[in-house]
Order: sequence, then structure tokens, then C-alpha cells
Amino acid sequence: MAFFNHIMVVLTIFVVVLLPATTIATEYVVGDGSGWTIDYDYQAWAKNKHFKVGDTLVFKYQQGEHNVYKVNASSFASCTVPTPGT
Ligand SMILES: *[C@@H]1O[C@H](CO)[C@@H](O)[C@H](O)[C@H]1NC(C)=O
Repeated sequence: MAFFNHIMVVLTIFVVVLLPATTIATEYVVGDGSGWTIDYDYQAWAKNKHFKVGDTLVFKYQQGEHNVYKVNASSFASCTVPTPGT
């Protein structure tokens, strides 16, 4: 009986140690099959996802058609890319 208890303890340690390791880094393709585009509800896409430090967000788009910058609403509307250092 002690042998089986020992196995249970080892299994429990395995689960506790290994489970967080498998959940450290997740890769998300933003917009899934739609990719990074306009007229897509990214808030709905992100709503039930729990992003963590170390996760990767992949933005898939046609080069020259889109880009990835953090801008405010007016810069977004005028498609103004922020210039570094200004
Ligand atoms: C939006 O960002 C641009 C560029 O940084 C800035 O010039 C402009 O004043 C900002 N507009 C608002 C409403 O914050």
C-alpha cells in the first residue's frame, strides 16, 4: 500500500510541476483565419482569451496593406504611422 501511495505522491508532483510549464507560452494568431485586417471584431476575438507575459501574438497581413502600431483614434482614421522620436 505504501508503494501505491508513493506513486500517487510522485504523480501529483509531476502534475503540479509540469502543468504550469505547458501553459507558459501560447501563440495566438490575431483574428485566427481572418488575420490582421479591418472590419473584424478583435475585441470579441480577445474577449475570452487570457493573455500572459511570454505569449506570442502573431499578426498576419499582406505586406504593404496593413501594419501594427499603437495609435489613437484620429491617427487610426487618418492612417498616420507614429514616427520615432517625435
Ligand atoms: C493622436 O496622436 C497623434 C500622434 O501622436 C497626436 O498628434 C494627436 O494629438 C493625438 N490626438 C488625440 C486626440 O489625442
